Amino acid sequence: MQVKYPIYINGEWVGTQDTISVVDKYSGEVFATVCSSSPLEVDSAVTAAVKAFKSRALSPYQIYQILAKSSSLIMERSDDLALTISREAGKVYRDAKTEVMRAAQVFLIAAEEAKRISGEVIPVEAAPGSENRLAYTIRVPIGVVCAISPFNFPFNLVTHKIAPALAAGNTVVLKPASATPISAINLCRILEEAGLPPGYLNLVIGSGNEVGDLLLNDERINFYTFTGSPKVGKKIMSTIGLRKSTMELGSNSVTIVHKDADLAKAATLCSRMPFVNAGQVCISIQRLLIHQDIYEQFADMLAEETRKLILGNPLDPQTDIGPMISEAEAIRAEAWVTAALKGGASLICGGKRNGALFEPTILTNVKSDMKVVCEEIFAPVVSLIPYKEFDEAIEIANNSHYGLQAGIFTSSIDIATEATRKLEVGGVIINDTSLYRADQAPYGGIKESGIGREGPKYAIQEMTESKLVVYNL
Ligand code: SIN
Repeated sequence: MQVKYPIYINGEWVGTQDTISVVDKYSGEVFATVCSSSPLEVDSAVTAAVKAFKSRALSPYQIYQILAKSSSLIMERSDDLALTISREAGKVYRDAKTEVMRAAQVFLIAAEEAKRISGEVIPVEAAPGSENRLAYTIRVPIGVVCAISPFNFPFNLVTHKIAPALAAGNTVVLKPASATPISAINLCRILEEAGLPPGYLNLVIGSGNEVGDLLLNDERINFYTFTGSPKVGKKIMSTIGLRKSTMELGSNSVTIVHKDADLAKAATLCSRMPFVNAGQVCISIQRLLIHQDIYEQFADMLAEETRKLILGNPLDPQTDIGPMISEAEAIRAEAWVTAALKGGASLICGGKRNGALFEPTILTNVKSDMKVVCEEIFAPVVSLIPYKEFDEAIEIANNSHYGLQAGIFTSSIDIATEATRKLEVGGVIINDTSLYRADQAPYGGIKESGIGREGPKYAIQEMTESKLVVYNL
């Protein structure tokens, strides 16, 4: 039987006439519907968030308790929560389980951070003219936060937005990706059960632009936290004016394998990481730069490992790679690969599509202006690129309008240090791939990869304002 899920406004579960179908991304079966929000519900959601913010009903300790309790509830229900992710996102079950357990940690970290939001004493007397004054800053919540979240981590990337927003003392209007809304609904249920008062978290859902546009144009919203494409990120920024935001906008990430690397370790990691979640991760390895002395050997090692990966049903424990989010997205990725092959690239393995299932694909002989190289492919496709001198690797890596994270395998401290200094990215991962994330660490990019940082401590910083207090004694 199909379940119909309501939206969540001011602590009430609200049913609406219009619905959006949620498809099992592997079977193609519609397994649930969710209520979509009209302008009236969007307005009610923002009104509820404003009212709850003004009530200032929760102390930091109470917020800590609610977030910590949410973390425990998530762990208790991890199997069911992972199953939902697997079905609505097509994510391999064990990866979905990892996502849920990560989210439990994010709630716990945000809970702890809620207790340590503080300012600093400012020594104003250190300059003439401010004698007999005492000054300090406090950090105050920014207000109503609008969270717009993507499909690729429908549970943990929602968590990365709402847990810090609440920890900071804000209230939230959440708009999850319409392809994967049930995980967000599950999160609302958990927070409600953990004791979050009405209005603190409100959920609206829409599949076109209408709901998003209403949220962007609502001046009562003080902050936007968005994960998605640069195109949408730019649209948000051009609409919200001087209001603040955090933008996480993807990448065509690089991982470098230098000639002095531990090749076995690098091959094991580099043959998995471009294909995790069918390549639909912002820090997925898209460009693999390999020193020319080890290029052939490393390409062979990669191909051998990659051919072992099993594509198929995400609920089958043997499966390594599930379907992409939709057949349309897989067709788009296939078209990019076909264009690259026509332009002179060669296939080392993969390249075939069956519905939304796309084989793990390794390309070589690519050119820098091919879409598979210079745009974010967001599919299980990696391009191998040889380099001669290390400076050339840095130049190729930086020849991108993105700059999220980069990985480098090397046994040389000098090369690692040089990479750290020269790579134009938000994070450099040494002896691991670009696809490494610890949820407590700052996460975000430069250039078109975005603005600001996620990770509870850093997101709280973004979602609070500094206020100066001065006493004339
Ligand atoms: C992303 O795709 O940006 C999220 C990566 C992660 O949280 O592992």
